[in-house]
Amino acid sequence: MHQPAATYTDKASAYQGATRAIDAILDGEHNMILKMSTINCLLQEHLSHCFWVGFYCMHAGQLMVGPYQGTLGCLHIALDRGVCGRAARTQQTQIVADVHADPEHVACDSRTNSEIVVPVHNAEGQLIAVLDLDSTEAAAFDAIDQQYLEALVQRHFASGPLETAYQWD
Ligand code: SME
Repeated sequence: MHQPAATYTDKASAYQGATRAIDAILDGEHNMILKMSTINCLLQEHLSHCFWVGFYCMHAGQLMVGPYQGTLGCLHIALDRGVCGRAARTQQTQIVADVHADPEHVACDSRTNSEIVVPVHNAEGQLIAVLDLDSTEAAAFDAIDQQYLEALVQRHFASGPLETAYQWD
């Protein structure tokens, strides 16, 4: 079972706890929304430096908010806007130490001071979403976050088949 965030002494241990839980629970699962919701929940539970976590999904050439945990997220982000848009455009992880100094940043909640946005690809190499983590702390994210989050999205979205739709019948 997982440990509460407060009991971790360092960030790498928190990611190891989170990813152990995520990998165990998502074993054999293929549904995209189920995966995104579970990842959000367990990152939020294990990472004490994370205030908002969620996915923006590619839809009709824009980013559209997907599953998230935290305060109200913007619904649509064009690719030429936001740190999320920049991550999608460049297909490179973006680490922003001070969002107030980034002219592209879109403020959904003024309490956010730093963020990391990681591109999410499927097994065919198509960009399907970005994963956004926000913090109330300044400069909360670094190469450790990047390493664990990139590996996490690679394992859960780019390593096998993905179901993207519900079935209503
Ligand atoms: N800050 C993001 C927008 C999403 S919210 O923070 C939830 C950005 O600049 O793209």
